[in-house]
Amino acid sequence: MVLHQKDSVRSTLLNDVYASTDLGIQVPKYRFPQKEQRPRDIYQIVHDELMLDGNSRQNLATFCQTWLEPEIARLMDECLDKNMIDKDEYPQTAEIEARCVHMLADLWNSPEAANTLGCSTTGSSEAAMLGGLAMKWRWRERRKAAGKPVDKPNLVCGPVQVCWHKFARYWDVELREIPMERDRLILSAEEAVARCDENTIGVVPTLGVTFTCQYEPVAAVCAALDTLQAQTGLDIPVHVDGASGGFLAPFVEPDLAWDFRLERVKSINASGHKFGLAPLGVGWVVWREAAELPEDLIFRVNYLGGDMPTFALNFSRPGGQIIAQYYNFLRLGREGYRKVHQACYDTAAYLGQALGKMGPFTVIYDGRGGIPAVTWSLAEGGRHNFTLYDLSDRLRSRGWQVPAYSMPANCQDMVVMRALVRHGFSRDLADLLVTDLGRCLAHFDKNPVTRPLEHTEAGGYSHA
Ligand SMILES: Cc1ncc(COP(=O)(O)O)c(C=O)c1O
Repeated sequence: MVLHQKDSVRSTLLNDVYASTDLGIQVPKYRFPQKEQRPRDIYQIVHDELMLDGNSRQNLATFCQTWLEPEIARLMDECLDKNMIDKDEYPQTAEIEARCVHMLADLWNSPEAANTLGCSTTGSSEAAMLGGLAMKWRWRERRKAAGKPVDKPNLVCGPVQVCWHKFARYWDVELREIPMERDRLILSAEEAVARCDENTIGVVPTLGVTFTCQYEPVAAVCAALDTLQAQTGLDIPVHVDGASGGFLAPFVEPDLAWDFRLERVKSINASGHKFGLAPLGVGWVVWREAAELPEDLIFRVNYLGGDMPTFALNFSRPGGQIIAQYYNFLRLGREGYRKVHQACYDTAAYLGQALGKMGPFTVIYDGRGGIPAVTWSLAEGGRHNFTLYDLSDRLRSRGWQVPAYSMPANCQDMVVMRALVRHGFSRDLADLLVTDLGRCLAHFDKNPVTRPLEHTEAGGYSHA
């Protein structure tokens, strides 16, 4: 090689990343790239682009974990190459998944905790699908055995997360969703039972409703279904969507009977990546007893070696989240989970108080009787020179992501803001948020939105 060429190779190798030829051009965005490029340069490009995402710790919209102990990052790294579905190749990961299932069955008071069935999933959505499918299968078995038609299954629930709408549509089940009313933002036992009939595959109360964060009254629903059974013979099972509450109530409200202590509760789903404190990508579904999960929903494959029973919508999936969940169970135990969550509830109550004192807001919920979170609306009757949508937008200028949204049917005219208080949202951060909210209000005082909206008696908005 001639000397001047050697020099150019040298300078390419030594180039500062931003002085490299790779970063001197725009990378293709929607065309498949022709050429290969240096890993270091491309890493920088991708890394830099991700800066434009919001800061996850300031995302108070999500129920999912955004702060994790460094040991979890290490375990996730160590498991990067492990496929949890290869149970024969990674038998310890499979064993750890099984341990988590039984630990959860124990936490949720299954009478058969050591022998019952359950599995990990990608989150509560997949877990809800599996719980719903098992209910549909069991209902169909009963109907077929009685020689009755099986073409009109329905599911009764309160205002549910979209995963139940998906379940109903994908698996052809009529969703009988009880609409909210201004004085009842969650399901009531009476409303639930009134919608049940011989085609009801199950009732799904939510422990921590997505819109308001409140717990639905699982025990009252079970009692009302007991009465229904005594009167009509209809034996309708309950599946609890404990996406958030399944990892909160057992630690913070251990006396609240919402789980397998109630005989009618046949299955429960929860998100490991929400208040289970695991990294994104893990949920759980557990049945009260093995007999509740119909055998013909379980597939057995042998092409990875061994006999592998699976009940899942996916096949390949990373194993790290399951390992991280197990780490949390051992690391925190009941004691540690209680402390972490109690700190969040205390901060939610503190934030609720501060918001209540600011003037324009009515705090609807401050973490009592549900998930650690605060939900608020604009005070009724006041003349406000901004909407909650404006406030949400304004808060973004400081990086905070606090959603404003309208409630579902029948309260679509009710607009609220909601802030989740998760592991890692300290009292100090709550104070900083309150200061920023104060700044926003001062801004709107000086710069009212051009067409101020008046909050009407009915709680809706009209242009003043
Ligand atoms: C009550 C409820 N159910 C189910 C889900 C879906 O959970 P995942 O995001 O774990 O799939 C959520 C998510 O927020 C939820 O709040």
